[in-house]
Amino acid sequence: MTPRVLLGIETSCDDTAAAVLIEGELVSSVLSSQSVHVQYGGVVPELASRDHQRLIVPVVLSALRQAGVGFGDLDAVAVTYGPGLAGSLLVGLSYAKGLALGRGLPLIGVNHLEGHIHSLFVDGQTPTLPMLCLIVSGGHTQLVHVDADYAVRTLGRTRDDAAGEAFDKVAKLMGLPYPGGPEIDRRAASGDAEFVTFPRTHLKGFDFSFSGIKTSMLYHLNAQPDRDRYIESHLDDLCASFQQAVVDMLVTKVGRAIREEGVRTLGIAGGVSANSGLRRSLGELAARKGWTLILPSAALCTDNAAMIAMAGYHKMQAGHTSPLTLNAQPALAL
Ligand code: KG4
Ligand code: ZN
Repeated sequence: MTPRVLLGIETSCDDTAAAVLIEGELVSSVLSSQSVHVQYGGVVPELASRDHQRLIVPVVLSALRQAGVGFGDLDAVAVTYGPGLAGSLLVGLSYAKGLALGRGLPLIGVNHLEGHIHSLFVDGQTPTLPMLCLIVSGGHTQLVHVDADYAVRTLGRTRDDAAGEAFDKVAKLMGLPYPGGPEIDRRAASGDAEFVTFPRTHLKGFDFSFSGIKTSMLYHLNAQPDRDRYIESHLDDLCASFQQAVVDMLVTKVGRAIREEGVRTLGIAGGVSANSGLRRSLGELAARKGWTLILPSAALCTDNAAMIAMAGYHKMQAGHTSPLTLNAQPALAL
């Protein structure tokens, strides 16, 4: 069944988000990013779930209002049920289940990572399938093969830190605010990427590892006689050198996977896919090799509900809905 009006809800981490699709087209997408975590340098789970409780109703109402629809117009509700923070997931899921029960609507549980993949289909883009998708966010780094029926097969994943986590931890080492990714990206633009050559970790197969580069940065900074002054005078160069190392590790592996899997389309998704160095490097490689690169707009890279709504739409078209007994699964895998 194809739902005409579908509401999507996302509350897996620290963003409370709702979006509406009409006939598969995005008509509204509302997001409230929680600022309470900045002072702690990372997401505090209990504060996140409390903020979701405060924000879920106004965010959903605002998405419906902007779409020009009411509860009575809805045909289905899609919601993230994992992976993520248990307390955060439960807020969105409970709301969606209440709505589905109260209005007699079908409920569609969406895996957050599956949602990131479907962000590639929101901007009016229709990537050719099969394709590869690199999901790079604060919690995940995973390279997947997406089949014509959207079935996903994981080729590789990080064995330790996610790419975004590495950005955030290295930023913290240099005294930059959370989340560190956008700040490193901005500073890297005016830095020298060859200032420090950090070692690149290349595991066999398609798995990644980003904990080594974080430790290399720590040792490099600790080895300076005046650490604080060194950081202050070379901040942009350090950012550029770190970013280049992460981008090299990602691009090398993705290039090989495209070749070995014999596909011609690559999509990137997740917060780190907003990174300008990654976009540039992959863009150059794609142009050289003649494959198609699908880049979501900045708003669709980081967590949002439009991607959850789109994943829910495709799942429902394929006949998949969820029972009202659906529970939050914090460690849900793809
Ligand atoms: O997808 P997302 O919003 O949340 C998760 O599901 O994790 O990703 C957030 C992550 C953070 O680690 C943030 O530092 C990183 O994405 N990020 C970036 C950039 N923008 C966001 N990393 C590098 N460069 C960026 N421009
Ligand atoms: Zn995410």
